[in-house]
Amino acid sequence: MTVPEDTLRRIQWLREQINHHNYLYYVLDQPEISDADYDALMRELLDLEASYPEVVSPDSPTQRIGAAPSGKFAPVPHTVPMLSLDDAFSQEEVMDFDQRVRKLLGTEDEMEYTTEPKMDGVAVELIYESGLLIQGATRGDGYTGEDVTANLKTIRAIPLRLRDSELPVPERLEVRGEVFIYRDAFVELNREREKVGENLFANPRNAAAGSLRQLDPGVTARRPLSIFCYGVGTAVGHDFTTQWEILMTLRTWGLRVNSMVKKVTGIRNALKYHRDIGLRRNELNYEIDGVVIKVNRLEMQRRLGAKARSPRWAIAFKFEAAQAVTRISSIELSVGRTGAITPVAVMEPVKVGGVVVSRATLHNEDEIRRKDIRIGDWVIIRRAGDVIPEVVRPLVDRRTGREEIFQMPDTCPVCGSRLVRKSGEAAWRCPNPECFPRLVKQLTHFAGKAAMDINGLGPRVAEQLITAGIIRSPADLYSIRLSDLLSLERFAGKSAENLLATINKSKRTTLARFIYGLGIRHVGEVASQVLTSRFRSIQRLMDATEGELMAIDGIGPEMAGSIVEWFRKPRNRELVNSLMKAGVEFKDQIGEKALPLQGKVFVFTGSLSAMTRAHAKEVVKEMGGETASAVGRRVDCVVAGKRPGSKLRKARELGITIISEDEFLSMIEKVKT
Ligand code: IVH
Repeated sequence: MTVPEDTLRRIQWLREQINHHNYLYYVLDQPEISDADYDALMRELLDLEASYPEVVSPDSPTQRIGAAPSGKFAPVPHTVPMLSLDDAFSQEEVMDFDQRVRKLLGTEDEMEYTTEPKMDGVAVELIYESGLLIQGATRGDGYTGEDVTANLKTIRAIPLRLRDSELPVPERLEVRGEVFIYRDAFVELNREREKVGENLFANPRNAAAGSLRQLDPGVTARRPLSIFCYGVGTAVGHDFTTQWEILMTLRTWGLRVNSMVKKVTGIRNALKYHRDIGLRRNELNYEIDGVVIKVNRLEMQRRLGAKARSPRWAIAFKFEAAQAVTRISSIELSVGRTGAITPVAVMEPVKVGGVVVSRATLHNEDEIRRKDIRIGDWVIIRRAGDVIPEVVRPLVDRRTGREEIFQMPDTCPVCGSRLVRKSGEAAWRCPNPECFPRLVKQLTHFAGKAAMDINGLGPRVAEQLITAGIIRSPADLYSIRLSDLLSLERFAGKSAENLLATINKSKRTTLARFIYGLGIRHVGEVASQVLTSRFRSIQRLMDATEGELMAIDGIGPEMAGSIVEWFRKPRNRELVNSLMKAGVEFKDQIGEKALPLQGKVFVFTGSLSAMTRAHAKEVVKEMGGETASAVGRRVDCVVAGKRPGSKLRKARELGITIISEDEFLSMIEKVKT
């Protein structure tokens, strides 16, 4: 099919517009159009590319989330090792560094340095050839990293193609930078994880690292990551003379460079920079753990050289960790939505890094044992990654002998049920599904924005409704009467009517929101969507076996087990049934016969010529089928392209239907009509 000339021009124009607005938004932080206008451009481009797949290019802005899960990360050797930095913790150590540098260079003159914020994230290398991003890798051990190209491509601040500037882009450019997650995004991410009972990330750096190492780039794409670039490995076709020039040139090529980088003369000015940045540190929406001081002239850097792991021409002057000393007055237990009991240290309020802290999570019983934390102890606390307060250790020599060793109770502090602890798990759980805090959290999760979206049903109202005996489960929401609400404190006519209207409206929802709202452990928003596209009806999900669930990309044994266990409980099945009886309906649920490939599992092997594998998988999904990455008994059909691999042999062994690409094409043609 030939693409009409004006369509091609339109596609080109859309790409330029989108790239330009990406750059303004993600690199310069200066958006010029609304999100809605941006979305409209993107939608138009996606539509055009879907109609003319032959024009899709690897640097089209639509390709940021195109890649399929990779399965594992291939090793990538770095052509120039990615070294680490020596740390300094005091002004003296930094002065010593300056002395050493000048002595080695044989100069009395003041040195010229660049001073840069030291980002606390994950070091990566981006490789551009003729301006096109061809590969991205983690630092790894400094010599060999992991290929995380597909994941890095989802980060909007990373250009897929370098910008043309007065300076032509080099033939090959290895850019180094630090990927990080914004603080507010990190807090939000943990809040989401807490809701679905997943382990929390201890700090933004771990969250960034975890996000970058996702096997499914779709998951990475949903994490608000960004990058600051700070250096180059090899640059073929461009000669730099100073670090400052590197920073400024990277910027003209469209790469994001921290706006606080500075060039200074003399070590005193570098120390002043450290002080100034230290004062602004808490205002930033990302974590920095110090400043990096680098000799500016590259020729001097070469003369200074490197030790085994770190260069002699740079030093990281770290900030003091935000720590404080306080006393634990008691240890409280908090009951989570899934019943997990979390011990929380209640402390005399103390300021850490500019924030007053009076509670810190102790995670679980084992953690308390391991750190030997006792009630009444003086402890050092730290805002880990400057966000979640954490108890570092007790000050044992300040003990008086009156401290109490914490004893995990046998029974739930709220409802008195006997606590249970599964083997292999750190948490004790309250098994009573009607335990008050569990009910409250279950209800607010169900009503949450990403679930049934019942605005106005927060923890306070949930507590009121349950305490007054008006509801005992989310299903009861739909039989609340106006008079019930009016009997509650703080509910006037208008607000009661509004809440009822919102509850009523929430009945018409999507299957994905509903599944998420059930609050099954480990099942987050993304998983709910995956489950929706695989099962398309709540009934089928209820009857799914662990094997069926585990065969789905993105669903591991833990989640599969948790889903099956949840639906096995009569109480939960009843909840789903009464919600359906109450009139909950799904806009996206598709009837049994509506989809031609419903329930069929496909595997692709070899290369396809008429379409990309990602596209073929997409087609199968659209028609209600499912794709798997490996051949197993559950698979119905293997599509063999050119040069098929071992999957074909396996399919023959198992006697699974094998069809050619042409047969596949005519199959989807036929079912389409
Ligand atoms: S320069 C040989 N500059 O700190 C030069 N590193 O401990 C090494 N980092 O792995 C890197 N911000 O991940 C440099 N402005 C910056 C940095 C920075 C953060 C990280 C980087 C590196 C680690 C070194």
